Amino acid sequence: MKFFTPSVVSFAATLLFSLSAIKVHSLPTGPTLEKHAIEGLNNYNCKLTPAHPRPVILLHGTGLNVYSWSLFAPEMAKRGYCVFALTYGRYIRFSGLGGMAPIEDSAREIGAFADEVMRKMNVSQVDIVGHSQGGILTRYWIKYLDGAGKVYRHVGVVSSHHGTTLYGIATLGTALGLSYLLQVFADLFAPSLFQQVMNSTFIQKLNAGGDTSPGVIESNIATKYVF
Ligand SMILES: *[C@@H]1O[C@H](CO)[C@@H](O)[C@H](O)[C@H]1NC(C)=O
Ligand SMILES: *[C@@H]1O[C@H](CO)[C@@H](O)[C@H](O)[C@H]1NC(C)=O
Repeated sequence: MKFFTPSVVSFAATLLFSLSAIKVHSLPTGPTLEKHAIEGLNNYNCKLTPAHPRPVILLHGTGLNVYSWSLFAPEMAKRGYCVFALTYGRYIRFSGLGGMAPIEDSAREIGAFADEVMRKMNVSQVDIVGHSQGGILTRYWIKYLDGAGKVYRHVGVVSSHHGTTLYGIATLGTALGLSYLLQVFADLFAPSLFQQVMNSTFIQKLNAGGDTSPGVIESNIATKYVF
């Protein structure tokens, strides 16, 4: 599992998105519990243009929330993109942390959000930037729920499509014969954690039949600067 750092995201922004001078007025109206608006995010008055014809949905990673995009979203909006994001996958409701719930549930949640964005923006496809678990969710939604045909381009930012060792904790746990106990404990507050361990049942299902889905332009940006 990879965590967000501002440098990586701004690096990715520079890499991914061409310069554009179109200004977007910020009218943030987040559908979720966010108290502080992020400039340019969730603006349903944003105008799609030939250069940026689809809304871009930003999906944060495990244990994070919509504020992962505090730097990235305003930058994209300035460059003419219509950007949308939510905090998905709350499990311990009072914690403000997303990406904790079972991944299947989060995938359903982001699917409903994408449908809402498409309906309000009057389009039939979106682009998705998924950080870490965000990329996994996107692929699960496309492959096993009703996301097929709804994603034009999917850019993963250090997405752990083939699983993670949870910083080595899972490997250590296995070596010590403790992984079952670790998992029981972790599942109490974040079932998504052990679902993302290498070769978990979930990861096997996610990758069954191949990593990509027909019709989706997929890429994944990896860097040694995130951990
Ligand atoms: C939605 O898009 C369709 C075709 O892309 C267009 O014909 C229709 O007028 C649009 N509706 C609104 C409310 O903008
Ligand atoms: C993954 O798990 C399956 C069955 O659960 C097993 O057959 C396979 O050897 C495992 N692969 C690795 C790389 O551990």
